[in-house]
Amino acid sequence: MADSPSSETTDKKADRYTITAALPYTNGPIHIGHLAGVYVPADIYARYLRLKGYDVAFVCGSDEHGVAISMKAKKEGVSPKEVIDKYHGIIKKSFAEFGITFDNYSRTSAPIHHKTASDFFKKLYDQGDFVEETTAQLYDQKAHQFLADRFVIGTCPKCGHEEAYGDQCENCGSTLNATDLINPRSTLTGAIPVMKETKHWFLPLDRYEDFLREWILVGHKNDWKPNVYGQCKSWIDGGLEARAVTRDLDWGIPVPVAGAEGKVLYVWFDAPIGYISSTKEWAEREGKDWEPYWKDKRTKLVHFIGKDNIVFHCIIFPAILKAHGDYILPDNVPANEFLNLEGNKLSTSKNWAVWLHEYLEDFPDMQDVLRYTLTANAPETKDNDFTWKDFQARNNNELVAIFGNFINRVVVLTNKYYNGVVPAPATFSQLDTDTLAELRKIPATISSALERYRFREASQELMNLARLGNKYLADEEPWKAIKEDESRVRTIMFVALQIATGLAILSEPFLPFTSDRLKKMLMVTSTTPSDPNGTPDTTEASLGWNAVSTIETLLPSGHQIGQAALLFSKVEDDTIQRQLDKLEATKKDNESANRTLMPQKETITFEDFAKLDIRVGTILAAEKMAKAKKLLILKVDTGLDTRTIVSGIAESYAPENIIGKRVAVLINLAPRDLRGVASEGMILMAESADGKLVFVNPDEDNVGNGGVIN
Ligand code: 2FM
Ligand code: ZN
Repeated sequence: MADSPSSETTDKKADRYTITAALPYTNGPIHIGHLAGVYVPADIYARYLRLKGYDVAFVCGSDEHGVAISMKAKKEGVSPKEVIDKYHGIIKKSFAEFGITFDNYSRTSAPIHHKTASDFFKKLYDQGDFVEETTAQLYDQKAHQFLADRFVIGTCPKCGHEEAYGDQCENCGSTLNATDLINPRSTLTGAIPVMKETKHWFLPLDRYEDFLREWILVGHKNDWKPNVYGQCKSWIDGGLEARAVTRDLDWGIPVPVAGAEGKVLYVWFDAPIGYISSTKEWAEREGKDWEPYWKDKRTKLVHFIGKDNIVFHCIIFPAILKAHGDYILPDNVPANEFLNLEGNKLSTSKNWAVWLHEYLEDFPDMQDVLRYTLTANAPETKDNDFTWKDFQARNNNELVAIFGNFINRVVVLTNKYYNGVVPAPATFSQLDTDTLAELRKIPATISSALERYRFREASQELMNLARLGNKYLADEEPWKAIKEDESRVRTIMFVALQIATGLAILSEPFLPFTSDRLKKMLMVTSTTPSDPNGTPDTTEASLGWNAVSTIETLLPSGHQIGQAALLFSKVEDDTIQRQLDKLEATKKDNESANRTLMPQKETITFEDFAKLDIRVGTILAAEKMAKAKKLLILKVDTGLDTRTIVSGIAESYAPENIIGKRVAVLINLAPRDLRGVASEGMILMAESADGKLVFVNPDEDNVGNGGVIN
């Protein structure tokens, strides 16, 4: 059983890194919340480590089992296989186009994963690590199905949230068993479930409590993020309970033991094992051995996830790995909080999102702008909001005005003054020496932020380097000095070109497309050192991360650079407005879909109905009632007479637009005094989908005023 944790997992120099990014469910495409929370930081981290020369396996894949997929398939009236194939394709393509450099992007429907997950289960089963129990579970008699996870909602016993799922409450983050829910109801049929006995295998998490307490609460007190540590502490302190790792479902990996027909592995049992399967698939393709990436103690395993996945990666999966016995445990789980969009929670089902594949269509070649915006405003310590105005400001005021402007000046002036050849510097001033010293310090500053998983801070340090260059040029004004002191300009341009090269190298993890374009412009290639823990690079040929602080000259005199090309362009207001309009349309769609229809009123007799005298009439005059936002005073020809009717339609119709309009009027309603005007009837109105009042209009021209409506 669980013995004490190994202290070797922390504070060690790593030989290699296994970096995992949460496997996205294939029930919808990727949106900016997924990117900001998981994939952008994970990719920055993987790219950074590779630039430092580390051996990295960065793995991910589609999470294709579980109720999320079955529900989507049911909703769309297709098979789960059709759903996963469709979204796996969209997701994989959009990640690649966005420059997420997974070494492997697999899928949990792959045979290699089915085998890996089954073998894992069998080993734990054979070792006696599960408890087999027949218990009463929720059952939907209409759907003839057991209800677990997202097939059942009810009130959370911990926080009272009324829409908690059978496995988790999204309001308070608690993990739940379906039977914990108060007032459960089936999401398939709305039925109130009954209890029915069924057999399942449970992972007795209580057996791992001491191990988890020691490993996390003692071992990772200082290096895990406070939000992650805090969640773990409250679970462990609250006492851990056994969790079922099998389900009665027809979609998933069959439970590989006798007597488990019709049962599949719980998606949260198989999905994290997907990281291992993905590593195996990659290693097989590359002719490598996958095992050191998961079993060698000198490997650092880092899981990038969103905060809703913390319990699965910090408690349940480590308990499974520990039970297996051969595996390393995560060194860190830098979970992020959530990103909102324009003040509202991102939602796949409500289409409240900026979808990656749509962004890539609307903003071709602007991957880095989104990467930068999401990093600069990453929800690292608290939930954050993405706004299109912020996106525009980050682009226009930082990427264009600082980074792009600096590079453009350097490359244009080098071409103008020296035909694109890096000049030989004359004497360095104190400012030149200080500026070059600042440049050399930057890699360590960015590294320190990245190694503490502070991606926002790291991205700002990178921008500070561009600021340094911009300010240097603005202060030294080579375009003025060229007239008086040609040798000074050579030194200024030499220094500025070193900063530009530093930016080309250090921006790679954050702005990979820009870094590539900039390297082409400067005609440099970056190489990575072979041994990250060995002697630092001191040669110009090796422009890896460390080179920026260790080598004397990044871009030597006499080196030919290319022509200037714009790295970023301004995002105009109308571009932003189009995106805001798109969201506004979504909001309207959701409002009309959500408008709850009034339940039917009490039944009336025909005699009751016959009492209503409804006639066709024509509006002869209309004016706004003073100091009343909603009221119009109408003169209506009812066929019998012309009468005054006060109607609450001022927010739907301008008075001048309704003169001559033919309407249905209830004429025998008792007169009412509305703000001093006697109203002698009621115009019949209906509410349109967008919430406006519209006339119930007798459109037959041959119905005269006074015609009876019945
Ligand atoms: O929350 C989710 O989207 C899950 N599909 C994440 C799974 S992460 C891992 F364990 F596979
Ligand atoms: Zn709750």
